[in-house]
Amino acid sequence: MTEAIPYFDLPAQLRGIRQEIDAALARTIDHCSFCLGPDVAQFEKDFATYLGAPHCVGCNSGTSALHLAMRLLGVGPGDEVITSPFTFVATSWAISYVGAKPVYVDIDDATFNLDPQRVERAITSRTAAILPVHLYGHPADLDPLLDICRQHDLPLVEDAAQAHGAKYKGKAVGTFGRISCFSFYPGKNLGACGEGGALVTDNAAFAARARALREHGSTQRYHHDEIGFNYRMEGFQGAVLGVKLKHLEKWTNERRRVARRYHELLADTPLQLPREAAWAESAWHLYVVRHPQRDQLKQHLEANQVGCALHYPLPLHLQKCYADLGFKAGDFPVAEKAARECLSLPIYPEMTGARIQRVATVIKEFFQKQGGRG
Ligand SMILES: Cc1ncc(COP(=O)(O)O)c(C=O)c1O
Repeated sequence: MTEAIPYFDLPAQLRGIRQEIDAALARTIDHCSFCLGPDVAQFEKDFATYLGAPHCVGCNSGTSALHLAMRLLGVGPGDEVITSPFTFVATSWAISYVGAKPVYVDIDDATFNLDPQRVERAITSRTAAILPVHLYGHPADLDPLLDICRQHDLPLVEDAAQAHGAKYKGKAVGTFGRISCFSFYPGKNLGACGEGGALVTDNAAFAARARALREHGSTQRYHHDEIGFNYRMEGFQGAVLGVKLKHLEKWTNERRRVARRYHELLADTPLQLPREAAWAESAWHLYVVRHPQRDQLKQHLEANQVGCALHYPLPLHLQKCYADLGFKAGDFPVAEKAARECLSLPIYPEMTGARIQRVATVIKEFFQKQGGRG
């Protein structure tokens, strides 16, 4: 019997570090530091050092971090925030939570990220921020976006939820925006054993206010300076993330190995393969191939016990929750085509050469059956 290949193998990751995780969790229990506490404080320091960023504020999710970013920048009703329609919905939630309007612009076909030229055209007097996403771990083209921000005196907020360890022109993503946000959802390259996120900034005042906002708007117990939230990171998650962070660079290199091998094995198939732009080092959160017969290929992979997934089948401008924005099919053709064609193949540090080979073999069988190349 051939082995089923999971789309993502969290048990394999945890097996390799289980003793370290158990010891770290035991220490958290011994301290009884369950909400924030020393493990979270240490992780914040370590993650900031890893990125080369001055301040990191741990939160209970990436969504919360994005929400805090909008609050810190004073984005509110009547404001517009320019962002991508081709991302996980939480990017847009942050804008909606503060009563502002997401203004989508179409993506760049090669990187799936915000197209700077279209961003420029979307700016109005109500634009309050630009919010690019480093989708699938591949950096957005930040320099042109930062130029636009400088010209129009706008803040850039990076949604780096999928891009821990990715680099733009040699520098870690998450260090370019006025504020950057990460997610530590378990499936991310750096994932908690539960929910988690972080806000990163070089602005000490933003960091201090984010610390207060995540803790009910208070710096002194039972004194609340502004309306805040319970967005604290749990002690357990700080402990787990501290352990996993030590492995992240090695894991990112392993992801790169898997991506390189897919490139080699799939080069002669009709698939459009993901490529790093000249200025990018992707974190390879996802390995996303494209083909017009994506749905049939997905069925074929699943029938052969190869896990795969869709990121994302419906762009945000066509989601029911955003119907009141008045968009229709055809408004963002590049994003809509990507949504029809994208298929995420299994990629994780523990993926063996044999598994990669088998994924490629099953894909080639599909195209042979179709009478295509491969
Ligand atoms: C691009 C993007 N933005 C934001 C988020 C939200 O992060 P979280 O799930 O930690 O709230 C995610 C993760 O799910 C994401 O992929």
